[in-house]
Amino acid sequence: MSADAADPVVVKDLCVSYGERAILRGVDFRVKKGEIYVLMGPSGCGKTTVLRCLVGLLRPSSGAVTVLGRELSSLDEDQLDRFRPQVGMLFQFGALLNSMTVGDNVALPLRERTDLDPATVHAIVKLKLSMVGLEGTHRRMPAELSGGMRKRAGLARAMVLDPQVYFFDEPTSGLDPVTAAEFDQLVLTLKGALGMTAVVVTHDLDSAFRIADRMGVLINGRLVAEGTPDEIRRVKEGRIHSFVNRTPRAGQDDREVWARFFVYA
Ligand SMILES: Nc1ncnc2c1ncn2[C@@H]1O[C@H](COP(=O)(O)OP(=O)(O)OP(=O)(O)O)[C@@H](O)[C@H]1O
Ligand SMILES: [Mg+2]
Repeated sequence: MSADAADPVVVKDLCVSYGERAILRGVDFRVKKGEIYVLMGPSGCGKTTVLRCLVGLLRPSSGAVTVLGRELSSLDEDQLDRFRPQVGMLFQFGALLNSMTVGDNVALPLRERTDLDPATVHAIVKLKLSMVGLEGTHRRMPAELSGGMRKRAGLARAMVLDPQVYFFDEPTSGLDPVTAAEFDQLVLTLKGALGMTAVVVTHDLDSAFRIADRMGVLINGRLVAEGTPDEIRRVKEGRIHSFVNRTPRAGQDDREVWARFFVYA
């Protein structure tokens, strides 16, 4: 694909080690404006680690991560702090604060980052909640919401500062298949309405194939395949073919990796 300097996300030769242990061993991908890029792979392969690098929470051991034109390792803490509101992050485990109402959770970035008056904050929170199908829930506590509603509330909070790019970590994990499909539909609706650019990390294959414009498969610290959903479905190479068809191949070196994958997928 053509290299465009204006691409909102560019990851080049990204390497991350924890101590002696190499987790990412040279990951390259780029995401175009308005594109949903899905990063898939077995549990523990380093998907969340990639996202932590993309929001500047983790400095890579080597390589470069450029988001919205900024090479993140060149930024100091103040510059990173100013950069972060431009990206919307949906964390793997929802991360709503249980002691606050849904409305206060969604309002939090506005209160921390802007001087908007309370009436405007309230209006924006109501708008964002209605965009994710949660009208009328702003006074409820997170514990009163279903799993799917909590994910939607997390999405409303990620959207509240109108970020230019989104990073979602396992947005459908813990949801039943119907609720997961509904969440995916919401993501597609928002993409249609807002031209949302997103990197979505998941090991939910159904979800990945529903929402991706392009997808990458991460195994053993490297992207072993990348393409549109149709291209990935047509890959003949053993590991990827097994993956798409959910059939572990017996007697292969990667058997254990895939066996773990199928447990979680
Ligand atoms: N702070 C840390 N220190 C040491 N090892 C870590 C740290 N964070 C993650 N790891 C290890 O790095 C590997 C990749 O972790 P990561 O959370 O990125 O995987 P993942 O693909 O998101 O997994 P999952 O699908 O379970 O969410 C794991 O083996 C994990 O144990
Ligand atoms: Mg993870």
